[in-house]
Order: sequence, then structure tokens, then C-alpha cells
Amino acid sequence: MHTPNKLNTHTILLAGGKGTRMLSKKAKVLQKLAGKSLLEHILSSAEEISNKISVIVGFDKPNVENEVSKVSNKAKAYTQKDQIGTADAVKTVIDIIDDDEKVLILYGDVPLIEANTLKNLCSLNDSISILTTNLDDPSGYGRVIKDKGNHVIEIVEEKDANTKQKNTKEVFTGVLSAKGEILKKLLPEIDNKNASKEYYLTDLIGIAYGNGFKIETLRATWEETLGANTRFDQEQLEQTYRKMKNEELLQKGITLIDKSRVDVRGNLEAGADCTIDVNVIFEGKVELGNNVKIGANSIICNSKIDDDSEILPFSHIDSSQIGKNCFIGPYARLREGSQIGDGVRIGNFVETKKTKIGRSTKANHFTYLGDADIGKDVNIGAGTITCNYDGKNKNKTSVGDNSFVGTNSSLVAPINIGKNSFIGAGSTITKDVPDNSLGVSRSKQKNVQDWSKDKK
Ligand code: UD1
Ligand code: CA
Repeated sequence: MHTPNKLNTHTILLAGGKGTRMLSKKAKVLQKLAGKSLLEHILSSAEEISNKISVIVGFDKPNVENEVSKVSNKAKAYTQKDQIGTADAVKTVIDIIDDDEKVLILYGDVPLIEANTLKNLCSLNDSISILTTNLDDPSGYGRVIKDKGNHVIEIVEEKDANTKQKNTKEVFTGVLSAKGEILKKLLPEIDNKNASKEYYLTDLIGIAYGNGFKIETLRATWEETLGANTRFDQEQLEQTYRKMKNEELLQKGITLIDKSRVDVRGNLEAGADCTIDVNVIFEGKVELGNNVKIGANSIICNSKIDDDSEILPFSHIDSSQIGKNCFIGPYARLREGSQIGDGVRIGNFVETKKTKIGRSTKANHFTYLGDADIGKDVNIGAGTITCNYDGKNKNKTSVGDNSFVGTNSSLVAPINIGKNSFIGAGSTITKDVPDNSLGVSRSKQKNVQDWSKDKK
């Protein structure tokens, strides 16, 4: 097998079309699949095997160019003036194709092709090779027409195909590899005399055959080569991607209660014996230690959860770190910068943000802890609120080790509560409380005897 560099690959990615069938105001390549644009998906495979990447843009150009520079530092955008066909799109960069480079053409709306498949296609021969797949229902795709000896003679687009050709199940996937020299020679011969009056890149195949070139095919799975032309295709891609990703997780030894009901929109790393319940979404980079359990209907983004911790159902965790042996949720919301120590319990309707919580501390019910530093073995009573915002600035709260904050307390920041201290339930604390002290602030209770509603 060649190494990618030896292939000297110049990838041309076609992304100029509108994608009319999506009925969108955006360019099709900006449509999302598992949280990322189609463009980002295909570029990440292309990057692995290309020396040079040229992206052809046209419709919605500024936004597509912007996405290109955001997701790739190798790719360069080139503008196709009018979207008059895939062959015309390739012609946009004909002047920067070198004779001896390997050109790999990719379509921006075919996002799931793996780098390895691309590499295998490029290594097939030295003239022209195409990636094909077999479809039970080939409608919408270009049909690969072969002679009796099984040699490819042309690709016929659906609109131009006769009944016999339409019955062909082998279709063109949009991926083609050709030597630069051959592509440059044959591209100008393509005309637009067809049902769509477009310059079809697929006509290159018939022309190459006529010029005596042998066209090699590589067969891929239909899943990998699914194109995104309609919202139906987009939904099917989402399902296919989910299946691919989740089968990888099962292969790595992770338990999924239902592999059709977990979405990994990014990267998930997990140790041994992790279990993921249904309707869980992972976004960005998520790392789970050993024996971590994620409860149903939870969303975990860019976070790290250490060994033996359990996220109970309906929890939302974003940009946070959770230690070992923790119980989080149900219905917990850990926002950015939550650092949760080992053995901590965070219960229902507890929200944390930019908050550090020490070992074995508990905040079990209805609480907001923002911009706070909470020590070890602290009990945060139900309804405790850090009043961190004074209308202008965010202020800090700290609570020392072993302290006890009674229920329904407001801690008005900036404020320090020392170690081994106690806050009486229902207090509004505005002054620091030293170590080993009781802080209480509430009006004295008055009982009126023989009082009834009627005598108000
Ligand atoms: C194309 C193929 C078809 C193949 C299918 C695979 C042609 C003529 N047909 O059909 O054989 O089975 O893909 O998915 O190539 N684009 C431009 N500029 C243009 C036109 C298109 O950049 O002027 C880009 C589009 O943005 C898109 C790609 O080229 O990313 C393919 O164009 P599309 O119109 O989707 O082609 P299909 O009809 O799907
Ligand atoms: Ca298409």
C-alpha cells in the first residue's frame, strides 16, 4: 500500500451547487450531519490523504468560504462563476492541476466516505478510477454502464438514461480519481448536450473510454456513499452515521441499551464497563473513565467523567470535569467550568457554573452554585443560592471544608464562609462567616395566640 504522500494527491471538492432539493436558503454543504457541516465531514477524510485540497465554491460563497477556512487549514477555495455543471466546476481549477499529480474528485454532498476508501481508490491504477456502489433503488444517481466484458464504458445520468440503463443497479458515487494529465486533456471535450444542459463530469468516463483509457472501479458500501440531496437523505445520513458510530462503541466494549438511540456528535472515549442508556447525546470531546453510567435523556458536551461515577437521567453537563464515585442528577445542570471532586453528590434541579466542589460534598436539591469554591464534606441545603451577580460583576463565594449551609440560604457574593461553620436555614448572608461559627440572619418568630383568619 502506498503512503498518502507518495500518492501526491490533489483533491478537488465540489461545493458550488445550491442544493435546490433541500429547500434551504443555505448552501447544501453547510447543512448539518451529527452537528457538523457536510463540508467538515468530507474535508476531514480528504485531509488525511491529500497534499493539496481545492474547494470549488459558488452559491452562498462567503459562508461556504468561511466554513472552509474554519474547518481546514489545508483547503483553499476557488470560485466557479455559474453553476453550470460538475465538469465546469472542475474546470475552475484546471490551471493549477499538475500533469503528474493524482487528482481526486469529491462531491461536497457525499459526506461519509472514509479516508481509507479514498486511498484505495487512488491506488487502483494510473489513469482513471471511479468509486461505485450497488443500490436496490438507484434513482437519482448516475448509472455505471459496462460492456459484456465488464469494462466500464460510460456513466449515464438518470435524466438521460433509457429504460435498460435505468435498470442498472451499479451507480456512480461522485468519487473519481484521475491522473492530472488525463483530466486536463479530456475535460475540455465535455459538452452540455444532455437533458439538463449541464456540463456533466460523468461524461468524462465515456470520453476516456473512447480515447482508449481503461477505467477501474472500486465498489463501496451504500452507507458510506450516501448522497445528501433531500431532507430524506439528510435524515437517512444521520441514521447511518449513528449506526456507524455506535457500532464502533459496541466494538470498543461500551454497553449501549439501544444502539439506535444514542448520538455521538463528536468524539467519545470510554474506559471499561461503561453503560449508556437511551436518548443520550454526546457533543464535542467527551471522556469517560471505567464503569461510568450515563442515564437516559442526558446531554454531555466537552466533559470528562472519572471512574465509577453515575449521571442520572435528564442531566445536562457542559465543559465540566467530574471526579470518581460521583452521583449527578437526575435533572442536574453542570455548566461550563464545573469541577466536581470525588464522591460528590449533585441532585435534582441543581445548577453549577464555574464552580469547584470538594470531595464528598453534597448539594442534593434545588440549588444554584455559580462562581463558587466549595470545600470538602460540605452540605449545601436545599434551595441554597449563590447571589453571584450584582448587576455589573460576577462575584465569588467560598465555603470552607466541613461546613453546613442550611436550606433556603442566600449567599450574597463576594462572600467567604469559613471551615466547620454553620448557616442557619433561611438566612441571607451578606457578611463573611469565620471558621467554627454560626451565621444566621432572619427575623425572630412571633406567635400570636388564639388567632383566626376571621379576626385579621
Ligand atoms: C452527481 C453525479 C451522479 C452521481 C451523484 C452521486 C454528475 C453530473 N452527476 O449527481 O452521476 O450518481 O452525483 O452523489 O456529476 N456542483 C458544483 N457546481 C456545479 C454543479 C454541482 O460545485 O455547477 C457540486 C454540488 O455542490 C455538489 C456536487 O457538485 O456538491 C454534485 O452535484 P449535484 O447536483 O448534487 O449532482 P447529482 O445530481 O447528485
Ligand atoms: Ca448530489
